[in-house]
Amino acid sequence: MSKKRIVIAGGSGFIGSALADELVGRGGEVIVLTRRARRRNDGVREVVWDGEHAGDWIQFLDGAEAVVNLTGKSINCRHTPENLREIISSRVNSVNALAAAIGQLKIPPRVWVQASATGFYGDTKDNVCDENSPAGNDALAGICQQWEAACAAATVPQTRKVILRIGFVLGHGGGALPVLSKLTKLFLGGAVGNGRQFISWIHLADLVRMFDAVMADEKLVGTFNAVAPNPVTNAEFMRELRRVLDRPWSPPAPEFAVKMGSRFLGSEASLALVSQRCAPKRFQAAGVIFNFPELRPALENLCW
Ligand SMILES: NC(=O)c1ccc[n+]([C@@H]2O[C@H](COP(=O)([O-])OP(=O)(O)OC[C@H]3O[C@@H](n4cnc5c(N)ncnc54)[C@H](OP(=O)(O)O)[C@@H]3O)[C@@H](O)[C@H]2O)c1
Repeated sequence: MSKKRIVIAGGSGFIGSALADELVGRGGEVIVLTRRARRRNDGVREVVWDGEHAGDWIQFLDGAEAVVNLTGKSINCRHTPENLREIISSRVNSVNALAAAIGQLKIPPRVWVQASATGFYGDTKDNVCDENSPAGNDALAGICQQWEAACAAATVPQTRKVILRIGFVLGHGGGALPVLSKLTKLFLGGAVGNGRQFISWIHLADLVRMFDAVMADEKLVGTFNAVAPNPVTNAEFMRELRRVLDRPWSPPAPEFAVKMGSRFLGSEASLALVSQRCAPKRFQAAGVIFNFPELRPALENLCW
């Protein structure tokens, strides 16, 4: 029997690498669409695309079991008009390119799993958001809406569409945890701003399980919050991280210091100050199991 093929667009990064590892480990054929293909010896094949236009890459989608789209310029940068334009265009163009490609195939993929983010909800303060909560009105919420709308507009009648609104992913080799751990070890791991903003985190291994669940289960369709069931405030998050890293105390980082620090690090303070308290209501209703529902074991698993 031939191997099931999964195409991961934007799969060279943090989440894509973990997903590809898992799929190859289970005997899958994994194709990563990337702007700079490298030869790899881990069983993953990289194929060039530009994230925008049709090309030879389309042949790899024909007969594929699934396509996963993780493409997008990182939001961890200064949110200048130019960067915001690229953050949007890299996401929307890649969705449109995949939609056009799927429309030309003899055998379209059975499922398309599209990344989005909990940024969709904007700053939700203490309110719990599930998948039915309304969109926010800040810049990132607007970007997520355009991103999801492009996917919703794709006419791919033979392909089941799933959108994952991904939270703050905790893992090795990417995301914010390595930076926060480094700062915490330097006694710079205090609560950020007033510390009351919620963080909807998820362990990378559980996120990979969510991708797996939606690829496998024909009944799962539409939008899902990909977050752990127990979001925490920033103050709790930093306290747990200090505990795990054996740094009992660090001075808090007031908002003005976060703004200065972010500028210095080429990032955007709002990423650390916004509050998102999201619930994985649909995954829980579907009976998907989280290996890391609580923060402390997740951090203990990742930080040593
Ligand atoms: N990590 C998180 O905590 C998190 C949270 C919520 C949502 N998400 C979303 O999940 C997706 C994957 O996240 P990740 O952390 O794995 O991101 P990542 O490591 O930055 O990987 C994203 C991939 O997108 C491609 N890319 C970057 N800029 C591009 C551009 N201008 N045009 C076309 N392609 C571009 C890159 O592939 P090549 O350079 O190989 O072409 C890169 O490997 C992203 O869409 C992200 O917004 C992530």
